[in-house]
Amino acid sequence: MEEKVLEVIKKRRTVRKFTDESVTDEQVETILEMAMYAPTYMNRQPWHFVVIRNKGLQEQLGETLGIRPYIQEASVVIAVYGDPEISNTWDLDGSAAIENMLITATALGLGSAWAGSPGNLAWGDAEGVMRDTLKVPSGFRALSLVCLGHTAKMVVPHTKDERYDRTRVHYGDWSNLKL
Ligand SMILES: Cc1cc2nc3c(=O)[nH]c(=O)nc-3n(C[C@H](O)[C@H](O)[C@H](O)COP(=O)(O)O)c2cc1C
Repeated sequence: MEEKVLEVIKKRRTVRKFTDESVTDEQVETILEMAMYAPTYMNRQPWHFVVIRNKGLQEQLGETLGIRPYIQEASVVIAVYGDPEISNTWDLDGSAAIENMLITATALGLGSAWAGSPGNLAWGDAEGVMRDTLKVPSGFRALSLVCLGHTAKMVVPHTKDERYDRTRVHYGDWSNLKL
């Protein structure tokens, strides 16, 4: 089992080209169930997830964020929200949930992409668009979008040679590397 998890983590890549095939509601629920197994500060679970299957909104978000056309192509887009009133680590907690979602999507044979973040200039506009259309109550903050679909263009997995950077790992103190 452990090996399988490691294989799936290695296989995950950002997919930006999707087919028309639908992601099922059952798959979405599995992905969201796994999201909610993620650790959170003091177990506060300050998250909400909005499941979007609305091509009009998806197109608008793609345009606002300048990442067309894969947001429109995605069968489902999940908007991840945090409640800063519940936890001031809502963004860290939500990010842990998102990584679980991407790994689960990969395990289910689906393609996925993490898109948008509060640091991005256009994100405020996207957040405004979603607040109105998705009827988001005030106080909740949009963290990112998770785009899900069936992969149209396979992305080759990273390799250890390409990815594992020994100069970033310090043993005991900063000066001690194992190169
Ligand atoms: C916080 C965050 C925001 C991201 N936003 C975008 C985005 O707006 N558009 C996009 O195409 N990819 C986005 N990505 C995906 C990264 O570009 C991608 O993970 C990175 O290039 C590495 O490629 P890989 O995921 O295939 O390993 C985002 C990733 C993170 C963690």
